[in-house]
Amino acid sequence: MSRLERKWDHIRLAIENGQTRSSAFDDIKFIHQSLPNIGISDVRLNQTIGELYLSSPIFINAMTGGGGEKTYSINKELAIAASELGLAMAVGSQMSAVKDRTQSYTYEVARKENPNGVLIANLGSEAKLDDAKYAIEMIEANALQIHLNVIQELTMPEGDRDFSGALKRIESIVNGVEVPVIVKEVGFGMSRETVQMLFSIGVQIADCGGAGGTNFAEIENKRREKSLPFFTDWGIPTPVSIAEASSISNISIFGSGGFMNGLDIVKGIALGADAIGIAGHFLRILVEKGTEALVDEMQELLMEITLIMTALGAKSISELKHVPLIISGETYHWLTQRGID
Ligand code: FNR
Repeated sequence: MSRLERKWDHIRLAIENGQTRSSAFDDIKFIHQSLPNIGISDVRLNQTIGELYLSSPIFINAMTGGGGEKTYSINKELAIAASELGLAMAVGSQMSAVKDRTQSYTYEVARKENPNGVLIANLGSEAKLDDAKYAIEMIEANALQIHLNVIQELTMPEGDRDFSGALKRIESIVNGVEVPVIVKEVGFGMSRETVQMLFSIGVQIADCGGAGGTNFAEIENKRREKSLPFFTDWGIPTPVSIAEASSISNISIFGSGGFMNGLDIVKGIALGADAIGIAGHFLRILVEKGTEALVDEMQELLMEITLIMTALGAKSISELKHVPLIISGETYHWLTQRGID
């Protein structure tokens, strides 16, 4: 099977599987405040994270690597939606264009449709410094994502089997490119130890991409003759991963993995994330209902976030990060055993 066919399989199976969320979000509760003392017009959703300006706390996370016409048209429509609402957007893995430069148009279209927006380049941890420079230049990216997908590769029959040297390669990219580097998981979560390692080599942002949403082990298992069921249940649930990751200071944290409503987004930020990435939920709406429906859903999410922030009396994302929470159930036990409060 070609890389292109495999990538289209991923899109098809991600949509067919349906979007899910981690039940660990139900372990998180806000404490109602009857006197928030603010109004909706006091709420500001924009912020600056290092050198990165974000007009809103949600962004379109990486999808659709592989090149080809489908990558082109999905990147084009996502970029149109992103530019309409001023959302940041990551393109999918650009490795196909690094290997075959005739494919670069399938990513360049995102910059063409959104000339002034925040665009994020994307490569895997096998990438070298020159690949990273090329990916950034290709879309005039404002930041670069490097994805870590060990469990996906191990579940794929044709996947990588050797993950050594990734941290060294990432370090050389961090030191050699001009834009902030975001290292991201793809749905298995990042532990505190992983985030500490990333911080130690100068990574500016960790997107802890937790378990509960798009499940690449499940997707790859559907493509295998004999499945590896233990990887389907693998990983750190999204809210737990955000709490783990944000226990490391001086590195910004993005949360992602299974976000599809305003309440979970606000919970993710209150647990310590600076911004929330959404992939599968947006892709499904785009493919099934089109670009206008996607823009409507993004607007709805921003409205829900604003309403909940008003109820909590949080005027900004940084205030939201400090509202009190009650954590119960398995999430409480996990964080207690890990000494995270
Ligand atoms: C992805 N994701 C992804 N991530 C990445 O860094 N590079 C990539 O090329 C892709 N490709 C890709 C294709 C498809 C079809 C999907 C649905 C997702 C992973 C994505 O960015 C995200 O980390 C996970 O999907 C978890 O978030 P959601 O989908 O639960 O919101």
